[in-house]
Amino acid sequence: MSVNKEIKRVTTHVIQELKEKGEKISMLTAYDFSFASIIDAAGIEIILVGDSASNVMAGHETTLPITLDHMIYHASSVVRAAKRALVVVDLPFGSYQGNSREALASTIRIMKESGAHAVKLEGGEEIIESVKRILTAGVPVMGHLGLTPQSIYKFGTYTVRAREDQEREKLLQDAKLLEETGCFALVLEKIPAKLAKEVAEMVSIPVIGIGAGPDVDGQVLVMHDMLGISQDFNPRFLRRYADLASLANDAVKQYITDVKRRDFPNEKEQY
Ligand code: KIV
Repeated sequence: MSVNKEIKRVTTHVIQELKEKGEKISMLTAYDFSFASIIDAAGIEIILVGDSASNVMAGHETTLPITLDHMIYHASSVVRAAKRALVVVDLPFGSYQGNSREALASTIRIMKESGAHAVKLEGGEEIIESVKRILTAGVPVMGHLGLTPQSIYKFGTYTVRAREDQEREKLLQDAKLLEETGCFALVLEKIPAKLAKEVAEMVSIPVIGIGAGPDVDGQVLVMHDMLGISQDFNPRFLRRYADLASLANDAVKQYITDVKRRDFPNEKEQY
C-alpha cells in the first residue's frame, strides 16, 4: 500500500480513524535526524523515540541507564526531521515512577524542549495517577503493557509475558484501565497473539504490537533491528528488511582499500 498523501500531519485523531477504518498502523523507532527523515519520507505514521536508544545508540544492556536529558536530545533531533509522522517519546526509567508530579514535570520537559507530540509510559494500574496527571496537562499518552523492558530485573528474562492466567487477567484489566483513563493508544510487547487479539477487540483505542501477532491494529519494530544494523538480536518476531550492517561493512572495507592503494581521491575528487 502506498503512502496516504492526503494526510498532511498524523495526529492522535488520525491514528484513531485508522483503527476505525481497519487500516493497519505502522510505527518504527528513530533516534536521530537522518534516519527519522528517511522513515518520515517513506510514510510511517508514528515515530517512537524509544528508550531502546539506550541499547542501540548507547550500547547499554538494558533501557535503564538512559536519562531524561538523553531522551530529549534524541527526541528533538527526530522532531526536526518529522514533517508528517506523529512523534511519541518514551519517558525513561526513573523519570515517572516516583510520583505523578515527577511524571508531569518530566513530560513537560520533553514536550517543551523537544517539540514532540505525545509520551509513552510502561505499566498499568501502578502508574495510573501519572497517566491521569499528564493527560490533565493536555499531553496525549500511549500505554505499554506485556514485556516492559524497564522492569527487566523484576521479570529476570526477556521471555514472552502473560502466558499464565494471573498475569493475563492483570494485562486485560490494565488495558481497560488505560483506555478508560484516556490513553490514545497502547503498545503490547511480546505476549501471546491470542491475548493481543482479545485486547485489540476489547478496547476502542488502537493497539500496536511488537511480538504480539497479526490481530492488532498496527505494528512497531526497533529500526536498527529491522534494517539489520543491530546483528545480535534475533527474536522470532523480528523480520529483517535489509542488511545494512553488511552493506556498511563492505563500503568501509572498499574505502580502506581505495585509500591504501591511492585510488581515493582521484582527479575529479579534488580541487
Ligand atoms: O523503546 C522502544 O523501542 C519500545 C518499543 C520496543 C515499543 O518501547
